[in-house]
Amino acid sequence: MTNVKETVGRKAADYVQSGMVVGLGTGSTAYWFVDEIGRRIKSGELTDIKGVPTSKQTEDQARKLGIPLVTLDEINQIDVLADGADETTTDFNGIKGGGGALLHEKIVAQNSRKIIWIVGENKVVDYLGKFPLPVEVIQFGSWKLFKNFDRAGMNPSFRKSGRDSLFITDSGNYIIDLHLDHIQNPQQLAFELKNMVGVVDHGLFLNYPDVILVGQEDGEILIH
Ligand code: 5RP
Repeated sequence: MTNVKETVGRKAADYVQSGMVVGLGTGSTAYWFVDEIGRRIKSGELTDIKGVPTSKQTEDQARKLGIPLVTLDEINQIDVLADGADETTTDFNGIKGGGGALLHEKIVAQNSRKIIWIVGENKVVDYLGKFPLPVEVIQFGSWKLFKNFDRAGMNPSFRKSGRDSLFITDSGNYIIDLHLDHIQNPQQLAFELKNMVGVVDHGLFLNYPDVILVGQEDGEILIH
């Protein structure tokens, strides 16, 4: 059986050339992109690569593979970033943050010249919202925000890590997932969330990717 995530993740490495600064996404699809970058460096196909990881998890993987890393502040711009998504429309809007790395993913994306999303065909949707929308909030006052979301009918739940503890992001924040089912106006919602004090950022990535690689079950890859 084809491993769609592996096929599409490895394919994204074709956009990377020697000498580039590369954004390394987070998640089980981006894992294969990072793995392929490591492989191509080892084989000598890629030289002089610098990686910028979007999470501690990806940083650990990249270090093990011997990918040279730099911080965002050390470079001018990232040449290519490949990252997964939880949902995407074919007009380049999506939800990210299922793995809890949305804030660093968004910051890295905003500093990237070319953004490639790597997804399986099950992630392509007509409208956003079936996947719960992650909202990263600072810990202080987060219960108040939760109640506000609840009163607004947004069906919030705190992201858990295990049975009893709350998930903590790489920046030390909580995540509140909003179970919205169908987001009618993503732009409006993104604007409202960004204006709430205590919200650091949210998983709506509107008009972000330049290319979406969609892995199909039959092993083919569709390019949007
Ligand atoms: C992590 C993310 C991931 O890119 C997203 O959750 C997709 O992950 P996967 O490829 O494992 O389905 O946004 O914060």
